[in-house]
Amino acid sequence: MSFPVHRPRRLRRTEKLRSLVRENRLSTAGLVYPMFVCPGTKVRHEVSSMPGIYQQSADQIVEECREVESLGIPAVILFGLPESKDPEGKSSLAADGVVQRAIEGIKKAKLDLLVVTDVCLCEYTDHGHCGVLENGEVMNDATLEILSEQALSHARAGADIVAPSDMMDGRVGAIRTKLDNHKFENVTIMAYSAKYCSGFYGPFREAAQSAPQFGDRRGYQMDSANAREALKEVALDLEEGADIVMVKPALPYLDIIRMVRDRFDVPVAAYNVSGEYSMVKAAARNNWIDEKRVVLEILTGIQRAGAGIVLTYHAKDVARWLKS
Ligand code: PBG
Repeated sequence: MSFPVHRPRRLRRTEKLRSLVRENRLSTAGLVYPMFVCPGTKVRHEVSSMPGIYQQSADQIVEECREVESLGIPAVILFGLPESKDPEGKSSLAADGVVQRAIEGIKKAKLDLLVVTDVCLCEYTDHGHCGVLENGEVMNDATLEILSEQALSHARAGADIVAPSDMMDGRVGAIRTKLDNHKFENVTIMAYSAKYCSGFYGPFREAAQSAPQFGDRRGYQMDSANAREALKEVALDLEEGADIVMVKPALPYLDIIRMVRDRFDVPVAAYNVSGEYSMVKAAARNNWIDEKRVVLEILTGIQRAGAGIVLTYHAKDVARWLKS
């Protein structure tokens, strides 16, 4: 029996009814806000391609974190813009490095925030690749030691979660072993497991000053045409000890988020990346779209696809909109 007995519109008549039967309720509880830490004090420089997002010194990061906490956002993820770069990204290991100082500042301020750190070399190497080079090629195994040292130094500074984004094989296992050997068995690993080689990272590379100086990242990040391979990457990261797995970017890969959600019983995160943010901001500035409506629709879509955790530059706006 169908129409006229069944009338799906019956449940859409009023906001009360629609809200009663709503399948997904967007909440601030799953949001992670990305932030860029630079050297100095009192520095706050807006990223031109990402309106509302700043490169900031550690003291300013702490100030914005107070606001993030008060909005009920549970976590921030930190990216570092170091004082100096070298072929091996050694400055990423310094106990007084930009990210380490920002973590300490946030913890000292006793903010009720989870501090996540991006673990990668691209922001710290002079060539901009995510690993160390030999004859112009990114060397996998030689990169693992420095990545795990970086994760360890973040843990020592007080990071709650480390998030390797380099896409080297075996990095999750190497980081887990290193952390455990130094009694950081409670530091969580959120792995960028299915990280695609994407044009949507463009604005981030301005924000983090991490564009590769030659070539591209196709030799380590995933080919956008592949889906089954994402499941393999996730399975390997879980075997190596990942606690949370991530799909990145989000919007062109909603199918991957859904596949990972259905296949694995672990928390799934998605990264709503810089280019996805910048497109919305640019269109909204031209009054071509209604920013609030579009952002809430995008984040609901990412959640509906299966991501319980969403890393997004829209986090503060969303938290405000959901409050009011
Ligand atoms: C570092 C890293 C990148 C992003 C997160 N971690 C850039 C890249 O791989 O080039 C992208 C985040 C964004 O675009 O918002 N490897």
